[in-house]
Amino acid sequence: MEEVVTKTPAGTRSYSPRETAARPRKLDEIQYELESRIDTHNAELNRVLGGGIVPGSLMLLGGEPGIGKSTLMLQVAVTLRGKKVLYISGEESEQQIKLRAQRVGNPNQDCLVLTEVHMENILHQIADTRPDLLIIDSIQTLYTSMVESSAGSISQIRECTGQLLKVAKTTGIPVFLIGHITKDGSIAGPKVLEHMVDVVLQFEGDRNHLFRILRASKNRFGATSEIGIYEMMNEGLKEVENPSGALLSQHDEQLSGTSVCVTMEGIRPILLEIQALASSAVYGTPQRSATGFDLRRLNMLLAVLEKRCGFQLSIKDVFLNLTGGIKVEDPAMDLAVISAILSSNENLPVPQDCCFAAEVGLTGEIRPVTRIEQRIMEAQKLGFKTIYLSKFNAKTLDQGKYKIRLKGISKVEELYRELFG
Ligand code: TYD
Ligand code: MG
Repeated sequence: MEEVVTKTPAGTRSYSPRETAARPRKLDEIQYELESRIDTHNAELNRVLGGGIVPGSLMLLGGEPGIGKSTLMLQVAVTLRGKKVLYISGEESEQQIKLRAQRVGNPNQDCLVLTEVHMENILHQIADTRPDLLIIDSIQTLYTSMVESSAGSISQIRECTGQLLKVAKTTGIPVFLIGHITKDGSIAGPKVLEHMVDVVLQFEGDRNHLFRILRASKNRFGATSEIGIYEMMNEGLKEVENPSGALLSQHDEQLSGTSVCVTMEGIRPILLEIQALASSAVYGTPQRSATGFDLRRLNMLLAVLEKRCGFQLSIKDVFLNLTGGIKVEDPAMDLAVISAILSSNENLPVPQDCCFAAEVGLTGEIRPVTRIEQRIMEAQKLGFKTIYLSKFNAKTLDQGKYKIRLKGISKVEELYRELFG
């Protein structure tokens, strides 16, 4: 798709380079205040940002439509008491926004709402109101007459972002941009947007589930390893402060086809339940499907089970599901995935007080994983009695230090004998 871009000649632009020209300064001349971050009063968001909002930063919040981006930003806007927030929406009417603000909490009296898509008026209103925080919902709806293409096009997005970047850097007002992402996970429009901003946050989850994960894929002011977990309630997004056990489902009887893995999300351990169903294929070609888990990885694990351990899985349909609608990429899940599949295949439950943390290699060997001590402590805290891990991890650990039984294994066959043998 080709775009026709006509730019106004540089001379007629609203600013000339001279007035914004900066001079070089020595490093120790540059003022930097550690305590200058703005507290969002949202612990999960603060953590993901690396301790609150940095003044003058341009932040992008991406996510699929309907995931809760507007809700999260409006919640921030209404809880930032004592600060003036300007919330600009090109997607919803003022009435809609007010209704939502009432739904999620006691509206901040200083929160200003503007429904506008024209950059020129937006810049005017920012200069007029001088907010402490600016929220744009969404960058794809903005339109500037400096570029002759329609709203949402790459050149519009780039130009509008550039203008907002200049606002953030010259006034010190931090700016949140909401951006929709397409199904393949990229922020609609350009990668260039990600280069222009200081922070890229991704809001993920499944529309049909309640849990949402906020993670930073880029952060100029902090680590990208932290995540925030929320639950979508009737009154908006609730922070999940103790996520490690929140995603485990409770059942009284032992069910076949389920197992618990100890994964790491960022630097926090989280226990997740895996459900598998292996059943005789009804149609010729067996079906494989995975929710929240990489399908190629599932196929690899099935091939290992078939080829290395002799399980006849190529004639079976195999479905795999992570509870809570969360997507996780952690090799330490492999062992739990295999246990759930074998459990369903044999129709024998995995003992409920067991959990797993190990990677499985192509030869069926059980490989060690990172941060094993942290994973073990979390499993112990949640009352698990046994954790299965690689014998290479187990070798380095002292069983005497733990109440939970550490069961080091080296081969998939060994796991099978332990669990069902
Ligand atoms: P929204 O923030 O509009 O998503 P986005 O801006 O990412 O497109 O939220 C979408 C969904 O959240 C919508 O289907 C309704 C639901 N929701 C709740 O369940 N509880 C609430 O309090 C709110 C405000 C929304
Ligand atoms: Mg929205």
